[in-house]
Amino acid sequence: MNVSNFAFLYRYALLRLLVYIIQGLQKVVLFLTVTEKKRILREERLPAEPLILFKEWYDLAAGSCINLHEAMALSTVSGNGRPSCRLVLLKGFGKDGFVFFTNYNSRKAKEMENNKNVALTFWWNTLGRQVRIEGTVEKISEKESDEYFRTRPRGSQIGAWASEQSSEITNREVLEKQVIFYEEKFKGKEVPRPPHWGGYRVMPSTVEFWQARLNRLHDRIKYTLLPDKSWKIERLAP
Ligand SMILES: Cc1cc2nc3c(=O)[nH]c(=O)nc-3n(C[C@H](O)[C@H](O)[C@H](O)COP(=O)(O)O)c2cc1C
Repeated sequence: MNVSNFAFLYRYALLRLLVYIIQGLQKVVLFLTVTEKKRILREERLPAEPLILFKEWYDLAAGSCINLHEAMALSTVSGNGRPSCRLVLLKGFGKDGFVFFTNYNSRKAKEMENNKNVALTFWWNTLGRQVRIEGTVEKISEKESDEYFRTRPRGSQIGAWASEQSSEITNREVLEKQVIFYEEKFKGKEVPRPPHWGGYRVMPSTVEFWQARLNRLHDRIKYTLLPDKSWKIERLAP
């Protein structure tokens, strides 16, 4: 082994050690802030609406150094009833629902056009928490999509034009050529939102909160939307 290889390995080992120390510290902080007792989902402490609990959980996940805490699995169903699932990023949530952005010609978009029933799943590893949401989906307004598109980095804006998401391409060059084409096309100008790109809102009909507990005796609390718009709350066996 020559000297430069050794120096590289030494630096790599130091970096790994630093990462382990940071991850360890992160776990200690979490342990101190969210103890087993605090995690317990007690019926008497549950809010009447799932959004309140979701916000509490989401905010904690956001403040817990969880990598991509906003990532959620989105499941859709094809015309012949076959499910498919992929990760997308949550970009906003509120009383109206949970918003994400994508390509309106993508596979998921075609499936959602056909069948508006979707499911979302979050997993926050260090907190031992999962949230499952089921509901229906609708496109958000063009104005809302425009507003969000304007906040994206220019590279991502060009990418939204360049990539015909989910369609087959011969090789990577095709994509890179498209990027060059659109960089040239919008040179010195603001990149407009492509008409085939925008947001969706998932309006929940059920929301399940899953909290890991000792001996796999996890807590599961499920909220179900009733016709009068109130929520039924039930506990499920883990
Ligand atoms: C962590 C993560 C976040 C992602 N976020 C998005 C997103 O917000 N929107 C999106 O269209 N694709 C996102 N993707 C890519 C999708 O998982 C998927 O590959 C793409 O949307 C095409 O899916 P489809 O062919 O089923 O439509 C993300 C992937 C990962 C791994």
